[in-house]
Amino acid sequence: MNWIKSPQDTGEQAVYFQKELTWSRKPIRVEAKVTAMGVYNLLVNGKKIGKQVLTPGWTSYINRVQVQTYDVTAELAAGGSVAVEVGQGWGVGTIGYGHTPHFNDTQVSTAAAITAYFADDTAETVETGTDWDCYTHPVLSTDIYNGETWDGTYQPVLLGKATVSDKTFHTVPQVGEWITTHERLRPVALFTAPNGERIIDFGQNMTGWVELHIKGQRGDVIAFDHAEVIDKDGNFYRGNYRTAKAYARFVLSGEEETLAPHFTFYGFRYIRVLEYPGEIDPAVFTAVVVHSDLKRTGDFHCGHPLINQLYHNVIWGQKSNYLDVPTDCPQRDERLGWTGDAQVFCRTAAINFDVEKFFAKWLGDMALEQLESGEIYGIVPNAIQDGHTRCSAAWGDAACICPWEIYLAYGNQELLRTHFPMMKKWVDYIHGAGKEEYLWLDGVHYGDWLAMDAGYGVCEGATPTHLIASAFFAYSCKLVVKAGRVLGEDVRAYEALYEKIVSKFRECYIENGAPTVKGIALENEYPQKKPPVITPDTQTARVLMLHFGLCTEEDRPVLAKQLAELVLENGTHLTTGFVGTPYLLHALAENGYEKLAYDLLLQETFPSWLFSVKQGATTMWEHWDGVKEDGTFWKDSMNSYNHYAYGAVYDWIFGVAAGIKVAEDGPGYEKVTIAPVPDERLGHLTASVETRRGRLLSHWEYREGRPLYRFEIPAGTTAKIVLPGGTIETVTEGVYMYG
Ligand code: BGC
Repeated sequence: MNWIKSPQDTGEQAVYFQKELTWSRKPIRVEAKVTAMGVYNLLVNGKKIGKQVLTPGWTSYINRVQVQTYDVTAELAAGGSVAVEVGQGWGVGTIGYGHTPHFNDTQVSTAAAITAYFADDTAETVETGTDWDCYTHPVLSTDIYNGETWDGTYQPVLLGKATVSDKTFHTVPQVGEWITTHERLRPVALFTAPNGERIIDFGQNMTGWVELHIKGQRGDVIAFDHAEVIDKDGNFYRGNYRTAKAYARFVLSGEEETLAPHFTFYGFRYIRVLEYPGEIDPAVFTAVVVHSDLKRTGDFHCGHPLINQLYHNVIWGQKSNYLDVPTDCPQRDERLGWTGDAQVFCRTAAINFDVEKFFAKWLGDMALEQLESGEIYGIVPNAIQDGHTRCSAAWGDAACICPWEIYLAYGNQELLRTHFPMMKKWVDYIHGAGKEEYLWLDGVHYGDWLAMDAGYGVCEGATPTHLIASAFFAYSCKLVVKAGRVLGEDVRAYEALYEKIVSKFRECYIENGAPTVKGIALENEYPQKKPPVITPDTQTARVLMLHFGLCTEEDRPVLAKQLAELVLENGTHLTTGFVGTPYLLHALAENGYEKLAYDLLLQETFPSWLFSVKQGATTMWEHWDGVKEDGTFWKDSMNSYNHYAYGAVYDWIFGVAAGIKVAEDGPGYEKVTIAPVPDERLGHLTASVETRRGRLLSHWEYREGRPLYRFEIPAGTTAKIVLPGGTIETVTEGVYMYG
């Protein structure tokens, strides 16, 4: 395709590339293929085509850019005006913390081909070229982080004919889901803050934008910025957006109009109205939720209102961060495809929504970005190309964990086959890294990110990062073995490697049934502040040893008991971060501490899942104490209120409390185990997933102190039912009741 750009660099101002089309005859079909470096909309005779937004989406642009295909027969059969409007988006301008320019590119570009097909099997194609006109755009500035300003009184200026772009990009057909608009939320309140500012509350933290429907005076201005929370004094708080201005400004044209940003999005619950002509009318404002067009598959409710709210927050955490790539957060100057966050949440994600295609695209980019050495950096697409992210354990392990989890959820062997080389390469990299063949002792890792055990404000947590790295080395190696067996590959070398890693791990990290770091210096590189406490005597170390099966069966009960004691000594609280938290309840429940797992789940005081719920959260928080007891906040520098990682707790609720687990020899819910672990404090629980075979549901409720069970099994699923009382039965399609 021909890539063109404007003859003048318009910076943050968007551009139109425009062409009048005529056909020699009347076509039977007209198709447009369009892409851009930047974010674009296709307009025919001034009207936007297609329901998808934020096209071409975000891929590893250095490797591939998606092309969208539109059927424009109805609009263009008689010819007409075609325009591609392009703003900076992810591809141009700044992205990544610190606002690094993406490819040092300052100018947007586009490539398009419009083809008319005729009844006699011939076709005519018009492609982007130097005969297209370029105009300035009423979007006077646009930026993913800073937001957008639009002027309805602005007269676009002809800049001249397009020039051939000096950069071209490899194009591929759309591989991911569309990004589309979803719920439309009306304001739940308009209020004046103590400092006099006027604030609108949409009642839900979310990702998308605010749409205005208004007829005002020509030249009137409506401007606002965005926030997730209100501070303890009741004022608008946006310190946690860091450098992202998340601003929107509209100059009204004087006509009745519906206005929304064109090339960007925001993470927010509140807006602060900075300019408005006269008395603010909340009816003018609608918050529009934007994310990838994923089919909702999961559902859950129980008899505990706070757990129901937690589930709601998990769902909204996913909606808010599944916008073409799995991002860490949608609001501050980050919004990046952090691999660690993605792997932690992947299983939960695949219960809640159909994410097969979504992950196929993202994993495709990951494979393309994997270095020859096998290394995988912290974010995919790698928008921070100056080496500022780390090749870290538990982040890079997304290369093995995500393909495996997606395979289990959907039974897609092809996806596993496609990514098997990436999985092996990652494990091979660790195998070759550093001075110890069977452990991963070197490198710079994120550790048990944001754990509570190393002191306030220390990010990496207390668990030695090499212990975590070595544990994940074993886990990923095991997944290579499992995947290889599914695919009929020869994995004897990885089986042997796994045995060696486990035995070395036991030798170095477990002594007399307790975690240790025998003979290994407690040294790793910590680029920022080194934790004042580094010790293997942590919840997370034991969680990994237990859940990854790294301990001997003899040591298992001893480690589990120590883990339980650590939790109790801490007032029945966790101290874990991104690495330990997702597996903590599993490690307890798998080893006889089901009640304690529930105690943690139901804990309402800090740090706990329900603490944020009690503090009014409508999405998952990055920090256990995003809003503290006294209403003050964790530091501005890293305090997202929409970070899904800790939402991974839903995979325990679904997999253990409701008891639904996909069997590894029956992926895609062909074979499942249903082994619920009920707890009277929840009263009742219903969890379901719409599998490709139909709905699978597990329900229990307490009647007179005893649990009653009901399970729905779809056609084509074999379920092994295991009840606490000892009943074990294997069933197929049908509804089953026990108790
Ligand atoms: C992100 C995280 C991410 C981390 C790396 C943060 O800034 O928001 O979620 O995983 O960096 O540790």
